[in-house]
Amino acid sequence: MVTLKTQRLILHPVKISDAEAIYNLTRDEEILKYTQVPRDYSIKKAREHITKENKKVKQGKALHLAITLKENKKINKQMIGIISLNSINKQHKRAAIGYWLGKQYRNKGYIKEACKVLLSFCFNQLKLNRIQFSCSTENKASQKVIESLNAVFEGIQRQKTYKDCRFHDKRVYAILKEEYSR
Ligand SMILES: CC(C)(COP(=O)(O)OP(=O)(O)OC[C@H]1O[C@@H](n2cnc3c(N)ncnc32)[C@H](O)[C@@H]1OP(=O)(O)O)[C@@H](O)C(=O)NCCC(=O)NCCS
Repeated sequence: MVTLKTQRLILHPVKISDAEAIYNLTRDEEILKYTQVPRDYSIKKAREHITKENKKVKQGKALHLAITLKENKKINKQMIGIISLNSINKQHKRAAIGYWLGKQYRNKGYIKEACKVLLSFCFNQLKLNRIQFSCSTENKASQKVIESLNAVFEGIQRQKTYKDCRFHDKRVYAILKEEYSR
């Protein structure tokens, strides 16, 4: 069970009991537009998704972490978003990071802080070599976060996803261990 800490955050494994909080936080246009969370989401679907993700976690293929705030004991256990490590490939030593935050918690640098500790875990503990990020070409906030982590822009995957009756282009970035260590 992986738990990561930063100055302001604690990242800990998502549990089935987090389904309602996830459902409530994802009732937001930006999340529905830019992530794989479906528009017809429900608490039941959130539970099913957690179960599916936790199977991947047990197989060592993913990390699915709830982001909580450290500072205020009262809301210590309240989730503010999720950061995940997906497609962990031990042979090729690579994985991809994805994330979202509830609307009221954005623009405070939380995701950058969460990405930094997860990157350190990836390179130093999991001994991975390549961490990929991708975001819609329209998602300026995510683009800014990824670029602020010094990830290298690798190109655009045209019409990579189909959502809301149209295709979306994705910007792909990656950080290699040698770049991270520099
Ligand atoms: C993407 C997301 C996780 C960023 O989280 P965050 O904690 O707000 O990120 P940070 O505070 O670390 O940084 C956001 C930066 O983007 C900037 N930004 C926010 N909205 C912006 C916009 N519409 N255009 C340009 N810049 C924008 C902020 O000013 C900030 O820049 P700064 O670091 O220079 O101050 C959050 O916006 C979110 O959850 N969005 C909806 C879901 C989503 O898009 N997930 C990612 C899918 S790839």
